[in-house]
Amino acid sequence: MANTRMFSVLYPLLLAALVLNCNCDDKKLHIVYMGDRAQGDISITSNHHSMLHSVLGSASSAKQSLIYSYERSFNGFAAKLTEDEAASISEMNGVVSVIPNRMLKLHTTRSWDFMGFSKGKLGASQEGEVIIGLLDTGVWPEHPSFNDTGYGPPPAKWKGTCQTKNFTCNNKVVGARYYNSDNSYYDTDIPSPRDTEGHGTHTASTAAGIELPGTSFLGLAEGVARGGVPDARIAVYKVCWSSGCSVADILKAFDDAIADGVDIISVSLGSGYPSDYFDDPIAIGSFHAMKNGILTSNSAGNSGPDPVTVSNFAPWTLTVAASTIDRRFVANLVLGNGQFLTGISINTFDLNGTSYPLIWGGDAVNYTYGSSPDNAKYCENDALNLDMVAGKIVFCEDRSDGSTILLAKGVGIVMVGKTEINPEYAFSYPLPATLISPGDGKKVLDYIKSTKYPVATILVGETWKDAMAPRVVSFSSRGPSAISPDILKPDIAAPGVDILAGWSPLSPPSIYDQDTRSVYFNVISGTSMSCPHASATAAYVKAAHPDWSPAAIKSAIMTSAQIMDPRRHTDLEFAYGSGHINPAAAIDPGLVFNASETDYINFLCKQGYNTTTLMLVTGDNSTCANTTPGRAWDLNYPSFSLYVEDGQQIMGTFTRTVTNVGSPNSTYTATIYMPPLISVTVEPSILAFSAVGEVQSFTMKVTGPAIKQQPIMSGAITWSDGTHTVRTPLVVYNYFPGAPYNNYSDESKLMEKETVLRGSSKNHMH
Ligand SMILES: *[C@@H]1O[C@H](CO)[C@@H](O)[C@H](O)[C@H]1NC(C)=O
Ligand SMILES: *[C@@H]1O[C@H](CO)[C@@H](O)[C@H](O)[C@H]1NC(C)=O
Ligand SMILES: *[C@@H]1O[C@H](CO)[C@@H](O)[C@H](O)[C@H]1NC(C)=O
Ligand SMILES: *[C@@H]1O[C@H](CO)[C@@H](O)[C@H](O)[C@H]1NC(C)=O
Ligand SMILES: *[C@@H]1O[C@H](CO)[C@@H](O)[C@H](O)[C@H]1NC(C)=O
Ligand SMILES: *[C@@H]1O[C@H](CO)[C@@H](O)[C@H](O)[C@H]1NC(C)=O
Ligand SMILES: *[C@@H]1O[C@H](CO)[C@@H](O)[C@H](O)[C@H]1NC(C)=O
Ligand SMILES: *[C@@H]1O[C@H](CO)[C@@H](O)[C@H](O)[C@H]1NC(C)=O
Ligand SMILES: *[C@@H]1O[C@H](CO)[C@@H](O)[C@H](O)[C@H]1NC(C)=O
Repeated sequence: MANTRMFSVLYPLLLAALVLNCNCDDKKLHIVYMGDRAQGDISITSNHHSMLHSVLGSASSAKQSLIYSYERSFNGFAAKLTEDEAASISEMNGVVSVIPNRMLKLHTTRSWDFMGFSKGKLGASQEGEVIIGLLDTGVWPEHPSFNDTGYGPPPAKWKGTCQTKNFTCNNKVVGARYYNSDNSYYDTDIPSPRDTEGHGTHTASTAAGIELPGTSFLGLAEGVARGGVPDARIAVYKVCWSSGCSVADILKAFDDAIADGVDIISVSLGSGYPSDYFDDPIAIGSFHAMKNGILTSNSAGNSGPDPVTVSNFAPWTLTVAASTIDRRFVANLVLGNGQFLTGISINTFDLNGTSYPLIWGGDAVNYTYGSSPDNAKYCENDALNLDMVAGKIVFCEDRSDGSTILLAKGVGIVMVGKTEINPEYAFSYPLPATLISPGDGKKVLDYIKSTKYPVATILVGETWKDAMAPRVVSFSSRGPSAISPDILKPDIAAPGVDILAGWSPLSPPSIYDQDTRSVYFNVISGTSMSCPHASATAAYVKAAHPDWSPAAIKSAIMTSAQIMDPRRHTDLEFAYGSGHINPAAAIDPGLVFNASETDYINFLCKQGYNTTTLMLVTGDNSTCANTTPGRAWDLNYPSFSLYVEDGQQIMGTFTRTVTNVGSPNSTYTATIYMPPLISVTVEPSILAFSAVGEVQSFTMKVTGPAIKQQPIMSGAITWSDGTHTVRTPLVVYNYFPGAPYNNYSDESKLMEKETVLRGSSKNHMH
């Protein structure tokens, strides 16, 4: 895990090294980001042409190099450029940033019932007005989750289209587009919005699939499958292919989705390392979405449990961590001596209780290949004697996708992780399989050694209650934010473990390509799965309050969250943010911490962006009133984060305004819960409102002794009027154990280094 982070840290340096040594004749796709779209009737595309013309020397090469113009919702283009040409363009007037294209990764259903959200109270007339745009792998349009029987036509505001290549839209899936700027397709890709991967069908049906009784994954987890807002509409923007999700395509999808008229954007993908806001395609796209009244909900990433791994941390978006639900997928192992061992796996295969010979991988060594029991016990590909595992259940001391055993005609596989403790989430395999604890692994080995003819059987999977839920799963990326230490990220936790939802029948349910099962439902895990739960919740709030700003919707979701058990999370809010999402409460938050575009601009000024850049981004005359960079404490954020320099005293002053969206006459009283080291005062501590829409401010002072190497400490400030509970966590920290560097002095140096190296490579090319 530490290696992953190390890579992120080193990446800018590697990148710079690559740039310095580039073969500068190579044209590569670059994204030229130019901020807001120019007002008036200037043709944006012709401006892109003339910029390229001036750098490339001819109109025809300009035309050839231009791949996309972004012009519907913001301004910019994607073009094939050498490093020299890219550098020249980055110096031109109006250019905010030039981003080399790269690939980002893709990061019922019981989960809604688990959240106490049995079915939305809003009817089709309200929910049906809301359109969720998903940037993903497309959807399977004929999937039963997208059956539009009983749906009226899309809302009148909808301006999108349906690219009907091998695809048909209906009144549920109201729009579909696909983007592949590289024009590169693998065998399994279809040039169409049609989903051949499964991921996009899964996220879309989690968010807004219709209610389908009697659904299961090949008999497992049977029940009613349903999206969070089953009456809402879906707009599909397919940006992810077998090769990944390209930045150029992601920005084009944002450009379209905003102009098409979606209400919420759901993005279950991200980058493996942090970038500045205007070098990050999702931060850019979601900024323009916010400007247009659209909240973007995105996955926190699957790089946990190390600290500072959270991606998609722009304050204008909702960043979603993944938590468990109270259902575990269990597949039990029964040994010939009657021992019954519980394993975790999504096992749809039924051996009907028949016992088969059981062999330890270390006893099936391929000596011809020069292998040894020490390799074979991990069931590594070449280490096993395939003849010896045929017809047997194989015990492997490592995780495996099972494909080797399947190809060798083995009957099943029993695994124990090389390093992990108990598995927190389940995988699918192409054959009977289970993953047991290391302790139980010893029992299996003892049994095998104790008898001449060991036998075992793996029972068909079942689902058990998990009393520990909800708990943030280890893979869910953790805060703090690498770029803005004073903004608490992630924002919220939502179900992302073992989620049953729709699937593409063209994609095998396990990661093994030759798995011949074709299914309409599958069970998978990831922050990719938690994100659409939050997107649906946002859509639900939007349906109830069509005029609320993205910040208000986000605030409603965060302040109404359920408290997560701190004893189960050593990194507290850096794991779960404000807590566990609570859709039913989110539509009636009482108060909201609202924020406008101007508030985010002021935040960016504090973060060191200058007026020149911000005027381009906003397309107006925004200026940084207070040009000295500072802390982000005054952004009207619905949570609080105080990063303290090592050895310094705890000290911070935050101002906030809250808007009454509850009862007209209401009086809110603040309750402060803090660990003993930290002292917090709120002034005033009582806020009396006499109208809906009324705004009141308060100031919060946080003080405490000097701290050194202090991991996260946290508490909360809760406003209550007796009916509504408006809870905002406060975290104080200056140390995040496990990160390769442990303070922001190091971090900011790293950022500086990145800029310096970029600058020097630019100079080098001039
Ligand atoms: C869609 O749902 C309707 C009503 O439940 C049903 O009659 C119809 O067969 C479904 N269509 C498909 C393609 O599943
Ligand atoms: C359309 O999609 C189907 C899968 O449903 C695929 O088999 C077929 O090749 C596709 N057709 C085209 C023209 O891409
Ligand atoms: C288990 O029984 C079912 C139903 O009788 C049968 O279809 C299946 O093939 C059997 N499985 C094995 C591994 O024998
Ligand atoms: C041993 O490994 C070699 C090389 O991978 C392979 O060709 C051979 O089939 C293996 N033998 C058995 C019995 O699995
Ligand atoms: C929040 O601010 C926006 C823009 O500043 C405004 O349109 C909206 O009415 C405010 N209130 C809510 C609850 O969204
Ligand atoms: C503003 O910031 C940009 C990007 O860092 C830089 O190129 C530009 O020179 C700055 N402008 C001013 C006036 O400082
Ligand atoms: C920005 O300011 C200039 C000069 O004051 C003015 O001419 C222009 O109209 C303003 N632009 C916008 C978008 O407000
Ligand atoms: C709110 O309080 C004011 C004065 O206290 C009163 O005039 C008004 O009727 C009350 N409104 C509601 C909706 O209770
Ligand atoms: C934090 O960074 C400063 C400056 O680089 C360094 O002197 C200090 O030792 C670092 N503290 C920790 C805990 O790593």
